[in-house]
Amino acid sequence: MRMVAPSLLAANFCNLQKDIEMINESQADWLHLDVMDGVFVPNISFGFPVLEQVSAICRKPLDVHLMIVEPQKFIREVKSINAHVMNVHYEVCDHLHRVVYEIKKNGMMAGVTLNPHTPVAELSEIIGDLDLVLLMAVDPGFGGQAFIENTYRKVRALKEMVLKCNSKALIQVDGGVTDKNADALYKAGVDVLVAGSFVFHSPNPAEAILSLKK
Ligand code: DX5
Ligand code: ZN
Repeated sequence: MRMVAPSLLAANFCNLQKDIEMINESQADWLHLDVMDGVFVPNISFGFPVLEQVSAICRKPLDVHLMIVEPQKFIREVKSINAHVMNVHYEVCDHLHRVVYEIKKNGMMAGVTLNPHTPVAELSEIIGDLDLVLLMAVDPGFGGQAFIENTYRKVRALKEMVLKCNSKALIQVDGGVTDKNADALYKAGVDVLVAGSFVFHSPNPAEAILSLKK
């Protein structure tokens, strides 16, 4: 599978409607939404009032990436914006099975995200219950950072684990994704690429989305 989820973080916040219409008309598979709390990551992005309005006009499935502490408190809010995927960070969940089961009970795909320094092996006891694993290829908190090359190794290790455990989890990579690394990432085993700056700072965002799938 070669899916692309453009990240709204790099869009023009003074004219989100225009950028979401571009996404609606494009070959994007999902729209990636980065929620930051200034605690888990050193930045604050947008919250549910914004997401509700985005949800009202976006026709692509919503992929919500929560870079926040205590994400379990917001399962109902994420469901209420009709999210397709709810991504929580492994690093902030003491009771990961409980969170994952609750997300699934609410009808969403359960995604678990790993920071660049968190080994893939940390998921070995839960991989069979996951719908998606998001590997961060940058330390989370900002768009436009440089891709960490060790991500390829993590993708291959995760792919091996997914196959060995007969897991249906999709593999997603987020951070520093461009047309220079997309092909190699898919070949290493990625199913869904997230791209912010590469898509929205391109003169032709719809073409940029297509170029990631080639
Ligand atoms: C970073 C976010 C990413 C970000 C990616 O913390 O999780 O989704 O928007 O931005 P780029 O593609 O510019 O690295
Ligand atoms: Zn993200």
